[in-house]
Amino acid sequence: MSENLTLPAQQGSTGDSSSATETLLEVKGLTKHFPIYGGFPIKRKVGAVQAVDGVDLTVGVGESVGLVGESGCGKSTTGRLITRLLEPTSGQITYAGQDITRATRRQLAPVRSEIQMIFQDPYSSLNPRQTVGTIIKSPMEVNGIEPQGGREKRVRELLELVGLNPEHYNRFPHEFSGGQRQRIGVARALALSPRLIVADEPVSALDVSIQAQVVNLLQKVQQELGIAFMFIAHDLAIVRHFSQRVAVMYLGKVVEVGDRDSIYNRPRHPYTHALLSAVPEVAVDDETENRERIRLAGDVPSPIHPPSGCRFRTRCWKAQDKCATDEPPLVQISGNREGHLTACHFPEDPSTAAREEDVVLDPALKALEEDQHED
Ligand SMILES: Nc1ncnc2c1ncn2[C@@H]1O[C@H](COP(=O)(O)OP(=O)(O)OP(=O)(O)O)[C@@H](O)[C@H]1O
Ligand code: SF4
Ligand SMILES: [Mg+2]
Repeated sequence: MSENLTLPAQQGSTGDSSSATETLLEVKGLTKHFPIYGGFPIKRKVGAVQAVDGVDLTVGVGESVGLVGESGCGKSTTGRLITRLLEPTSGQITYAGQDITRATRRQLAPVRSEIQMIFQDPYSSLNPRQTVGTIIKSPMEVNGIEPQGGREKRVRELLELVGLNPEHYNRFPHEFSGGQRQRIGVARALALSPRLIVADEPVSALDVSIQAQVVNLLQKVQQELGIAFMFIAHDLAIVRHFSQRVAVMYLGKVVEVGDRDSIYNRPRHPYTHALLSAVPEVAVDDETENRERIRLAGDVPSPIHPPSGCRFRTRCWKAQDKCATDEPPLVQISGNREGHLTACHFPEDPSTAAREEDVVLDPALKALEEDQHED
């Protein structure tokens, strides 16, 4: 298979959410706090990891929504809550008009087949002792689904659809490359004809050349089969090619969400600016060519004790007193298009014109660069 495939061209529309069709998934105030237990001899709850804290999101029928943010900001937890692999602490998940937040296993059964997940690691997510045929067939068996012509025929069709040889039905996962294994994961996710796929970093573990092929495949699946996607990634370049709308997460919260054009060309939240500036290849349009470079200092603060007010304030170059006391709501601020929401008291200008100088938020890095300059 060719390794020179490029990333798919961007879709024609800007993906403006105002043109989005019927809502398939709606998440309101979604929260997951993992309790921390301590003490001796009697263990009791001493705190909680606020992994996801009041997330609001929607995904339209057939729409692809990207969810991006640094490691540990709660992307996977959000994905697992939506697919009900995790129980939410609070909040509401509505799928196709049905509240599934507290649905029992039995109530959830028909919905489960419609919401599928693709995982990051194509090595550990496939059972090494099962053949590819068995792996792809098993969701049909578990759900008692007998497609026309039989399960094996359907599996062979799926293998072909994801670009694998149907004759490899009886092979084992170790006989495939990483990219091919991820294709097997995609075929398994498609086995039940889902309406929504949550893809959690589906290409991060793959070589760059292979990443493009798998993104191409997912885009084909989304467009040709009309499947909605929640595409989780930390790489904004990949999300840009795949998603009509993008939500940016920071420390358990969505800090900015909007159509692709707004997020990439008119971001307002300082954190979105920082994330974009860390991905030079994103700046491909004329208007973003001179994007400022921002290097964020340090790590994301602990989700056990997140900063008061705006959680980004400890790393934000625009922070003022108000940011420590008042949490900024996620709203459509002045200058934003419809559906473009930003949680910030002092947002950036909609223009992305270059700054005079780079913003360097890490004093140690700045000192090092100045030293090198003098040498
Ligand atoms: N089962 C768990 N118990 C306790 N804490 C957890 C659990 N799962 C996740 N967390 C914590 O919740 C936070 C969010 O984790 P999550 O895996 O959702 O982040 P992520 O954005 O997917 O990160 P990455 O990009 O590294 O995959 C992290 O601080 C993580 O340590
Ligand atoms: S609310 Fe304040 S700290 Fe938070 S992103 Fe905006 S300016 Fe920065
Ligand atoms: Mg993750």
